[in-house]
Amino acid sequence: MPLITWRPQLETGNAIIDAQHKRLVDIINELNDALKAGRSNEIMGATFDELVAYTATHFGVEEKLLAGHDYEYLEEHRKEHRVFTDQIKMDRDNFNAGVWEFEQRMMDYLRGWLVNHIQASDQAYVPTLKQGGVD
Ligand code: FEO
Repeated sequence: MPLITWRPQLETGNAIIDAQHKRLVDIINELNDALKAGRSNEIMGATFDELVAYTATHFGVEEKLLAGHDYEYLEEHRKEHRVFTDQIKMDRDNFNAGVWEFEQRMMDYLRGWLVNHIQASDQAYVPTLKQGGVD
């Protein structure tokens, strides 16, 4: 059973954003599967690198979209993105340096952050997207 199951509450209705969110969910599920299967640190590290890189891609696309719609809370939203990005980059660097090992609590953190962010903060901009603007 995947760590995160996609469900309607996670949908924003924007095809690009939803596809990117699904990809983030998939990467976290892949990381969890690798942990459960006892994969090597090399494989865990490569998947974590992918998560860090794809998160940055997604946040860039989303922020551009929100800027095009003059989203009122863009700066607050950017700040949430920045805090998470800084955290996972630091975690990634420390993991690569051998400071810590993957454990379930790391997966719980990643799942909790992503699901909460999509369900609360991302859902909050959906009405603004529906009002139109530049895609
Ligand atoms: Fe879809 Fe705000 O991240």
